[in-house]
Amino acid sequence: MKHLLGLEGVSSAELTRILDAAERLDRVGVGDVPKRDDLKGKVVVNLFYEPSTRTRVSFGLAARRLGADVLDFSPSGSSTSKGESFIDTAKNIEAMGIDMVVVRHSSPGAPHVLAKHLMPHVRVVNAGDGAHEHPTQALLDILTIRKKFGRVAGLTVGLVGDIAHSRVARSNIYGLTTLGAKVIVCGPTTLVPQEVARFGVEVADKLDDVIPRCDVLNLLRVQFERQRSGLFPSIREYRLLFGVDADRMKRAKPGALLLAPGPINRGVEITPEVADGPHSAILDQVTNGLAVRMAVLSELSRAV
Ligand code: CP
Repeated sequence: MKHLLGLEGVSSAELTRILDAAERLDRVGVGDVPKRDDLKGKVVVNLFYEPSTRTRVSFGLAARRLGADVLDFSPSGSSTSKGESFIDTAKNIEAMGIDMVVVRHSSPGAPHVLAKHLMPHVRVVNAGDGAHEHPTQALLDILTIRKKFGRVAGLTVGLVGDIAHSRVARSNIYGLTTLGAKVIVCGPTTLVPQEVARFGVEVADKLDDVIPRCDVLNLLRVQFERQRSGLFPSIREYRLLFGVDADRMKRAKPGALLLAPGPINRGVEITPEVADGPHSAILDQVTNGLAVRMAVLSELSRAV
């Protein structure tokens, strides 16, 4: 694998190799476990055209724990404000001598554009492109599931909420179905495109019927920033029909795992008592994200 642009078409063997590597790298750079030099002498650029907390910080930390130098770029305060294009910006940064670009952009396909236009030795990682894919988020979700259950195949995973605008949903669907999980997508019909069924998932609109069937519930954020017109259903209706509170969680299997990619809208798709409750692995996901990103950067650095 030369670039990680998405999980579409990534084989079960490749996914498993990254997940296995992430488990091996889990504690690297923490406490008395030394850092590694997989990326010694390499320069990794975080090229983030959209806001981020988890992805940006963990890619930076992951790269440093593997010995890389890290550059952080964001458009505010840059010559983007003078009209410099995305490709010109990337090629100018490339001219300073870089090896890897981690890119987040509101336009689906932006990472693919970089992979095409940058020099052949530069590796590109998609850190979220519009509503298209967010492959490392799905990998860290899947790693969190695998660590809890010891497997992915045969599990039932519910992806709940704003499927239409969710790059996390799309990457999860590709990764989970490739690894043999059953995926149920559930949300308001206005936020679940019916074409999603062609990806081999079940489509449902009654969360209370879906919850008892799931080993894992992944609660997706309602992406207010991507709604073109007013939100339908309203926040109050969404909370009533799809918000997960302690009462609704009583329908879940005793060992069910609750995930949310973050940032979460507390009190909309999830109440604080559930987000911080016994089923929740929300902060474990963040921890696992660091290991996944180390595994991805290390894997790409070795690709020829
Ligand atoms: N889950 C996720 O991608 O979070 P950030 O937007 O904070 O990176």
